[in-house]
Amino acid sequence: MAIEIDPNDLIVPRNYGVGGQPHDAWTRLRKEAPVYWCETEDYEPFFAITRHADIMDISGKPQIFSNLDGPIILDNVQAANREAEGTPFDQMRTIIQMDPPEHRDFRKVASGFFTPRNIHHLDEIVARSARQQIDKLGEEGECDFVEKISQRHPLRVLSTILGIDPDQEERVLELTQQLFASDDPDLQREGEDREAAIRELGLEFFALFNGIVEDRRANPRDDLASMLANAKMADGEAMGPAETFGYYLIVFTAGHDTTRNAISGGLSAFLERPEQFDLLRKNPELSKKAVEEVVRWSSPVNYMRRTMLEDVELHGQTMRKGQHLAMFYASANRDDAVFDKPFDFDITRHPNRHLGFGTGEHFCLGAHVARLSARALFLELANRVELLEPAGDPSMIESSFVVGHKAVPVRYEIRPATN
Ligand code: HEM
Repeated sequence: MAIEIDPNDLIVPRNYGVGGQPHDAWTRLRKEAPVYWCETEDYEPFFAITRHADIMDISGKPQIFSNLDGPIILDNVQAANREAEGTPFDQMRTIIQMDPPEHRDFRKVASGFFTPRNIHHLDEIVARSARQQIDKLGEEGECDFVEKISQRHPLRVLSTILGIDPDQEERVLELTQQLFASDDPDLQREGEDREAAIRELGLEFFALFNGIVEDRRANPRDDLASMLANAKMADGEAMGPAETFGYYLIVFTAGHDTTRNAISGGLSAFLERPEQFDLLRKNPELSKKAVEEVVRWSSPVNYMRRTMLEDVELHGQTMRKGQHLAMFYASANRDDAVFDKPFDFDITRHPNRHLGFGTGEHFCLGAHVARLSARALFLELANRVELLEPAGDPSMIESSFVVGHKAVPVRYEIRPATN
């Protein structure tokens, strides 16, 4: 008998805003229809891939499952606008839209910066940022944790590695929020001509990053900004302006909202399970495992799209050349074939083979930065919080790609830092 799951539940942003990630649907699909054809009124059709093992397999075969066509399932309007030209984004291609061997050449430009050894240099900066954000809360009160903490901390960390001055940070945040306003109406401006706005915002962004590039060419430092500004490709040629801008942008955009949503999702899980937060407070050495569980639990990157370069047979379904699939990481991260009690949030979980950062060719370049950032923040909280409790209902962003909390209202009492 054919399984009846409404494909809109998997892809329409509004549904994520109302009900969060569709875990009930995914649980059924993993069991009964792991390769599920989704046709909706407003989105291009795609196969939903929901099992951990299948995502591992597909991610290991970039020669068949291509990124060239981009990582997002497009709605009809986006698909129609695809051809539009005239913004600095049009010629821009980033590593998430490339296949090997080109992808490997471009990834190499920055991969040296993102190794655990090199990221270690950021320990102090990241710990300082975590402390400053918590300090700003004062000793007691109420706030929206997303606005005050989750979005500020990754902004500080990314701005530091990308050479954005602290006094430009606020504008960069505004620009990215407006440019990549997702589908959430609360994050867009009413009555705006989106195309014109994107062109204008894009030009401002481009000018800002150009300034940084020029500065780092004249005065290189020990940061990613300098590495990108002075990058040479395998053929010895300098990286072109569109690629350089694209790199800045992908690092910033791939790094900011994802880390923000992981931190908010983790905090929300701790609020619902105070015993897990107590466990972390008493055992700060669990912080590494806790962060892996936070990423598994929240899975901020809900899916990635791939396009078939040849016909593929999987679980009795034929996926044709040119069709798309979506690998739902958030579903794989609740797969009971891999995780014991997948619906328990357990900061002692080990091993934790989650796919929150993807796997294979495009494995998240910034995973160590994300881990370091989230860990520093949860450690600072665990160290200083006297009281942390919900001060209202959380709400979710209307987005099905980078997913998570829009607001998490909290009431708190916090000790001053001691060292
Ligand atoms: C908790 C936070 C984060 C999550 C959950 C996350 C998740 C992901 C996922 C799922 C992918 C695609 C993997 C694939 O297709 O197999 C990815 C790619 C990427 N991420 Fe992250 N990410 C996070 C933070 C960051 C940060 C902080 C940075 C930069 C500092 C970053 C930079 C990138 C880049 C550049 C790519 C593209 C890599 C490529 O195509 O080779 N991410 N990320």
